[in-house]
Amino acid sequence: MSNNIFLIGFMGSGKSTIGRFLQKELNMELVEMDARIVEEQGMSINDIFAEKGEDYFRDLESRLVLDLNNEGNTIVSCGGGVVIRLENVENMKKNGKIVFLSATPDTIYERVKNSTERPILNGHMNVEYIAGLMEKRRALYENAADIRIETDGKTRDEICKEIIDKL
Ligand code: S3P
Repeated sequence: MSNNIFLIGFMGSGKSTIGRFLQKELNMELVEMDARIVEEQGMSINDIFAEKGEDYFRDLESRLVLDLNNEGNTIVSCGGGVVIRLENVENMKKNGKIVFLSATPDTIYERVKNSTERPILNGHMNVEYIAGLMEKRRALYENAADIRIETDGKTRDEICKEIIDKL
């Protein structure tokens, strides 16, 4: 099974929204990685980070990527940090195509500013911090991507059409 579509990108890049649209458009299954982890652990992402630590969360994330090798015809909306571990990228590549949704720090900030559900941004909710972290991760997203879509100023329909055309 190698026909999954992995949506990667910074927090707030639109992975969940585009995942839901693509699911309907392509008649595929949808897995939201963070939601699956929350469900399995019975804890919020904030609580997992606070009580167990980021490494524990990253281990759960890596295990889930591996588990997804058993699922096909699935859109996977990944957590924004999934590319931090190269093994995750290698395991995703074995099992489908990786689509990188990019957006500028200003666009990201507008989309995430009212959320308190992202421990990485709690206490750093500003454009400068987002831009700095994005710069640190940029090469990881770009090297992982089979396809890159710039999302700024585009509608959901336009983004989905571009993904389908490029796949
Ligand atoms: C993270 C992104 C989050 C979530 C966790 C860590 C990150 O997912 O996995 O808070 O390190 O970028 P979203 O990209 O869906 O917000």
